[in-house]
Amino acid sequence: MTHSLRGSIGVFDSGVGGLSVLRAIHAALPHEHLVYVADSGHAPYGDQSEAHIIHRTLTVGNWLAEQGVNGITIACNTATVVAAKTLRDQTHLPVVAIEPAIKPAVALTRSGVVGVLATRQTVQSASVARLVELYGADKRILLQGCPGLVEQVERADLHSAETEALLRQFITPLIEQGADTLVLGCTHYPFLRDTIQRVAGEGVTLLDPAEAVARELARRLADRGALSTSTKQGSVQFFTSGDVAQAQAVMSHLWDAPLTVQALP
Ligand code: DGL
Repeated sequence: MTHSLRGSIGVFDSGVGGLSVLRAIHAALPHEHLVYVADSGHAPYGDQSEAHIIHRTLTVGNWLAEQGVNGITIACNTATVVAAKTLRDQTHLPVVAIEPAIKPAVALTRSGVVGVLATRQTVQSASVARLVELYGADKRILLQGCPGLVEQVERADLHSAETEALLRQFITPLIEQGADTLVLGCTHYPFLRDTIQRVAGEGVTLLDPAEAVARELARRLADRGALSTSTKQGSVQFFTSGDVAQAQAVMSHLWDAPLTVQALP
């Protein structure tokens, strides 16, 4: 049963990965009503054309706007670097968007070498090239596309030998080149955090900007006087453009609580 989404905060991703951002938002803003859209019927975005990613971002963003949400969070680095500007140009709503945490990684690295794990579209994007140029001038920033990882998380296959082998293939060359800081530049990857840490080594710092995104969202909504004044726990509603039963199983597992997923109309 769908409750009205009016006044909620909309959060979306190509699939289930954005739940890593949603949980940070839910923790920072427990009284807000949240609506999460997993565009799983069109995931992964990272291997698709820019035109397709822009089309999907506008489709989901416009649907959220039509429901009367107070703001939109793009919980997908790939959608941010390809389509955030277009969405911002087309809506009056505040749009907060996650992007790879290259700036904080540069501030933290001691070896001077930072690895960025992200989708192929993200590492090839002009936005990431700009971040590297802006903040990485006297550092080495190693951009590593990780095809296949999103699919593993979409299946909730977090700990198999196959997932670990993929991670070794992507991470080992970065560590061999001296990286001491790894940016989790895709919102699916925090769900692989334990294995990433084991493969990278205990001394390597992993950066996930989800909490910073939640703080930025709180600031933006507070500035507009759009934060809830309720002291009751806010609801969280989940939608998918993909297979509802599969999304419900995987999202309950990742959210660590039973939940109901509805089909995106
Ligand atoms: N969670 C998305 C991101 O942050 C994954 C994109 C994809 O579907 O490839 O980039």
